[in-house]
Amino acid sequence: MPAARFTPFELEEWQSRYETTVRRNLADSGCHPLTLGELLGPDPAAVDRLLAADLHYPPVGGTAELRALIAEQHRADPENVLVTVGAAEANAITAAALVGPGDHVVVMEPGYRQVRGSVLNAGAEVDALPLDPDAGWRPDLDELDRVLRPDTRLIAVANPNNPTGTVLTGREMDAITAAAERAGAWILADEVYRGTERLTDEVTPSFWGRYPRTVCVGSLSKAFGLPGLRLGWLVAPPELVQEAWRRHEYAAISTGTLSMHLAEAALAPGNRERLLARSRGLIRDGHARLKAWVDGSGGLLSMVDPQATALGFVRYRLPRSSTEVAHALRTDGGVLVAPGAHFGVEHHLRITHGLLPEELDDALASIGRVLESLAAQD
Ligand SMILES: Cc1ncc(COP(=O)(O)O)c(C=O)c1O
Repeated sequence: MPAARFTPFELEEWQSRYETTVRRNLADSGCHPLTLGELLGPDPAAVDRLLAADLHYPPVGGTAELRALIAEQHRADPENVLVTVGAAEANAITAAALVGPGDHVVVMEPGYRQVRGSVLNAGAEVDALPLDPDAGWRPDLDELDRVLRPDTRLIAVANPNNPTGTVLTGREMDAITAAAERAGAWILADEVYRGTERLTDEVTPSFWGRYPRTVCVGSLSKAFGLPGLRLGWLVAPPELVQEAWRRHEYAAISTGTLSMHLAEAALAPGNRERLLARSRGLIRDGHARLKAWVDGSGGLLSMVDPQATALGFVRYRLPRSSTEVAHALRTDGGVLVAPGAHFGVEHHLRITHGLLPEELDDALASIGRVLESLAAQD
């Protein structure tokens, strides 16, 4: 049998290959992470509980306490929740449960291309729901209507979006939901960036509860600053939770016992607000620094201000591909950023700004030097 054509996950491959080879990594998509000490805070009882933890397999779908805490984030019930190895696993097993060969899927572009690649690898056909750069990266809902088919199986969105930081309005969410309803399609709403809002302290509303065929995905990796715990979740109708759970048993069995304990600490009332406030502080300060740097580039760079996330999707005016520019930044500047091509858009770089201020300033200065030398050659 000939090997099926495989679509690699270019963004993650780029990061795995190069993130340990550079002085500054601005290709991750979250904020500067917490230490274990910062997470547990000044609570000696929390440390004692962790030291006494029994390192057996945890409950495969998540502890009862954790499933209840996650359910609260989406105003769902614990039976709607499955705890996974990051949002990455949640997206993968949701796509596997819902999409098969020949199915039609619509994905938001530019976007984090995990669902797109996973369903292509499953033999599905994919069309884009484009975000329009000339309209401040708002979704082109006419184009959604145009690509929608009676056999569309899934519409996958990220809200807030990676890499543009777009936050959907209620009207846009309604339009996407109405489109899904017309086709009888599922919505996969990747909500890992909820809680990273830059302009408001209100957490972006979840898609949960708007339409029965909805799966919401979340994680501790972004707004909570805890990517190393590898802890995510999906929220879905109970039958789909079971379908996904059967795939979770094949792929991972469960995430780690310690990660579940630490997730319970992170999502506990009080701590949750503390962690979100920390991320928002980094995001607001980092965005201001990035924006000042872009504005000072003499027209070489521009950016639509993101509404959320620790990301800037920066456009550059050079006659070179984003991969070529990103390689030059890596080899000549010691800085890793993510090429726009890995999100489906050329002549952009995704630059993470939720870092410690001195590290961000140093990295931006290096990027600026390399870009100016490329501009001088072109
Ligand atoms: C939109 C989106 N979904 C999922 C993930 C994976 O997150 P996790 O670390 O929770 O697996 C990422 C990571 O960058 C992301 O940007």
